[in-house]
Amino acid sequence: MIPDQGPRDAVVPPAERLKARAHVPSMERYKELYERSVGNPDEFWGDIAKDFFWKTKHTGPFMDYNFDVTKGEIFIKCMEGASTNICYNLLDHNVLHRKLGDKVAFYWEGNEPGDELRVTYRELLQRVCQFSNVLKSQGVKKGDRVSIYMPMVVELVVAMLACVRIGAVHSIVFAGFSADSLCERILDSQCSLLVTADGFYRGDKLINLKPIADEALQKCRDKGFPVSRCIMLKHLSKETEQATPGSQSPPAKRPCPDLQQNKQTDRVRKTRPAPQVPWNPDVDVCWHSLLCGVSDECEPEWCDSEDPLFILYTSGSTGKPKGVLHTVSGYMLYTATTFKLVFDYQADDVYWCTADIGWITGHSYITYGPLANGATSVLFEGLPTYPDVGRMWDIVDKYHITKFYTAPTAIRLLMKYGSEPVHKSSRASLKVLGTVGEPINPEAWHWYYNVVGDKRCPIVDTFWQTETGGHMLTPLPAATPLKPGSATFPFFGVVPAILNESGEELEGPGEGYLVFKQPWPGVMRTVYGDHQRFESIYFNKFPGYYVTGDGCRRDGDGYYWITGRIDDMLNVSGHLLSTAEVESSLVEHPAVAEAAVVGRPHAIKGESLYCFVTLIQGVAFSAALEAQLRKQVRDKIGAIATPDFIQNAPALPKTRSGKIMRRVLRKIARNERDLGDISTLAESSVVEQLFENRCSAAI
Ligand code: WTA
Repeated sequence: MIPDQGPRDAVVPPAERLKARAHVPSMERYKELYERSVGNPDEFWGDIAKDFFWKTKHTGPFMDYNFDVTKGEIFIKCMEGASTNICYNLLDHNVLHRKLGDKVAFYWEGNEPGDELRVTYRELLQRVCQFSNVLKSQGVKKGDRVSIYMPMVVELVVAMLACVRIGAVHSIVFAGFSADSLCERILDSQCSLLVTADGFYRGDKLINLKPIADEALQKCRDKGFPVSRCIMLKHLSKETEQATPGSQSPPAKRPCPDLQQNKQTDRVRKTRPAPQVPWNPDVDVCWHSLLCGVSDECEPEWCDSEDPLFILYTSGSTGKPKGVLHTVSGYMLYTATTFKLVFDYQADDVYWCTADIGWITGHSYITYGPLANGATSVLFEGLPTYPDVGRMWDIVDKYHITKFYTAPTAIRLLMKYGSEPVHKSSRASLKVLGTVGEPINPEAWHWYYNVVGDKRCPIVDTFWQTETGGHMLTPLPAATPLKPGSATFPFFGVVPAILNESGEELEGPGEGYLVFKQPWPGVMRTVYGDHQRFESIYFNKFPGYYVTGDGCRRDGDGYYWITGRIDDMLNVSGHLLSTAEVESSLVEHPAVAEAAVVGRPHAIKGESLYCFVTLIQGVAFSAALEAQLRKQVRDKIGAIATPDFIQNAPALPKTRSGKIMRRVLRKIARNERDLGDISTLAESSVVEQLFENRCSAAI
């Protein structure tokens, strides 16, 4: 039973009450601006660029590019000749020229209710300048890569913007990733410094981050790449200064002002264990002691438009993560503009995006887009279910959130508990709801719209990717009539097409590969250190187009509907994982000869990991082995990749040429007997056996 279900196929009109102030108040205006953005991008983006600070202006066309591999190397350049600094635009420009110094940039809401902080634009600028000076004192220079492995704290934003200020390139690694994953990312981008924290709480659970960071650094050393410095923020341990037995504690220094304001509530400190903080004096330095006496002024490094801004790793279908590289000017303009128009940002908004900064959504729509607009945001450290399932709505009421952005997996999780916990809150401040990460199923859409938004708030279903930098297909809240489950229409400057298997563009309604025909300012520029891989992943399959890897349907009204990945990627709770990556960590176990991983639908996570393993001769499958395998994948990749099902597969279905038939495995995982054409299957008895022994419940 779905509560308050509206008619399924009804079109939900755009929000009347937003129209009066909206940036884009009607479909007519959207169409007019869209035509202009595509027909005359130089003028469209040129006007937008006037709101930003440029040290030098660009020369030549707004964009210069080659999107066609048959015509030579792929390249995208935006605003060549211009120089700027994003940190300057996000902070100094807002403080000095827009007079927003006293405006709150972030309300930090800790894991524990009552644990909170606020930081104004002026304070953030000072803290970023100070930390920029710290980075410089540690030898970080323009162009150097800095790895950041931190929980959702204000200092994470400080660290990333300090890199940006001095022209260093940040590579943020989600704090849920394992030591192996962190090591792999540090090595790939050759980071000279790591910024981390002692630990953090996720709900009741203590995550000891520093020991994981240490293990990653040890692995880097073992592979001949010693990282010279590790700066550790005392997020939990600062008040206690206690070390775990056998390890050296970071030296206690006289407290800096910075250290006192950001503290855990007394209750939490008294009842919870302190994190383990192993200390290696050759490498480790304490964030707080480094800050003491450091100036809070720092001249920004002026960067060229196409200088690298950051690297963010995303799963690759070969198993090796790809370092997606974004550059300065185009990314700044694109995240700022999408944020402003998609959420219809107004100066009195309080905005909350529940993503982690470790993912692209947090980069673009917690840090860059909102700060570029001078917005006030909530930065949330905790979980939607801690201490109870009403936490999100309590936060909405506490800060009077107007624009709220989350993922379908969070909506489905909360939906499970019904509407009662939602109704305990008022949510009267809400105006626009957003979703990202995976297709939103109509049930979740209706619940979000009816129960959370009280049928007042349009839902912007934003389709985009790490690679695209910002939103690509999305409604605009005061303009677009909504269809539940559809990301509707392209954003300004975006030209989508749907191709069939032979690469022909479909006209009108149809289903096929979603591609983009021309670049937009926020598109990634390369895979870090491997331009060929960039070309082969995104441009080789259909020359002349950027290939998203997603399937898509266009209906008779021109609405776009994402149908999901059409490559070997899985979308678990909105996070992409490659099947190859999970398979290779399974086969690293000495008992496993071969492994194949497929997705199986999951009510909350969207997809779950269903793993088939063939053991080496003579090894018996057991619950203990199963547990070891789960742990192995978790340790190798991180908790998000923990297998839900592991099935013993004495043999895997293969074609006569030896290729694993994943299509068949997917059917087995879902218990669907209509296997389609299996004439290429080498041995059909294998399939029957696998059906018989399939796992029905998750481990
Ligand atoms: C999926 C996250 C349907 C899609 C910003 C895409 C979506 C991948 C949507 C990128 C949406 C993201 N509707 N599918 N609104 N948003 N996706 O790189 O498969 O973590 O290719 O970026 O998520 O995931 P990524």
